[in-house]
Amino acid sequence: MTQDDELNNAYALKSPEDNRRLYARWADSYDSTFVAEMDYQLPFHAADAFVKAGGHGPVLDVGAGTGLVGERLTSQGVGPVDGTDISPEMLAVADEKKTYRSLFASDITQPMDVKDGTYAGIISAGTFTLGHVGPDAFDQLLRIAAPGALFVITINGEHFESEGFAAKLAALHSQIHDLKLVPVRYYGANAQGDHAKDEGKMAIFRKV
Ligand SMILES: C[S@@+](CC[C@H](N)C(=O)[O-])C[C@H]1O[C@@H](n2cnc3c(N)ncnc32)[C@H](O)[C@@H]1O
Repeated sequence: MTQDDELNNAYALKSPEDNRRLYARWADSYDSTFVAEMDYQLPFHAADAFVKAGGHGPVLDVGAGTGLVGERLTSQGVGPVDGTDISPEMLAVADEKKTYRSLFASDITQPMDVKDGTYAGIISAGTFTLGHVGPDAFDQLLRIAAPGALFVITINGEHFESEGFAAKLAALHSQIHDLKLVPVRYYGANAQGDHAKDEGKMAIFRKV
């Protein structure tokens, strides 16, 4: 399967169960095929933006996947970093990187068993996108974030308006401040195929 096929399958997912199934199959080869062949940079851009904005731990990496965000954050001295993902298979790969304090499976479209105000930072790369997680999950992430917590969330550029992300961020205006929408490229110069030039936005803001 080419990386275009993989990406088209991922964008066509319809439910959390579809996500569980696809990422269970993809987990073992994700880093060596998708990340390597597409020169996937999004998690590194998100982590670097978090550090640049003065973020600190404890941080929750949402849709942590194989743990690329956590690895980048801890390499820059940010921690502790916890990670959550709907796919236990992806989390098993993340666990091998030995950079997370704790990894736990959860469907972030459902209520999470995490106390209010737990995290000083919330970060997410590649998860708020078509076929994955929509903007309503922001409510729960705000609940588990401490006052003043820093958020860096990448959002698919093509679907930013149509999937309701722009409207949701506008509706949250009394709960967040210092919102910046920073354009970001998903892939580096070595990417090939239809998605090579995909762009998104990083929503960077703080909880009031
Ligand atoms: C494209 S991967 C990104 C993984 C990692 N952040 C990265 O940038 O490499 C999307 C991740 O979102 C996770 N995911 C999809 N739906 C989810 C949900 N409802 N709750 C939690 N995680 C979900 C998938 O299992 C997958 O690991």
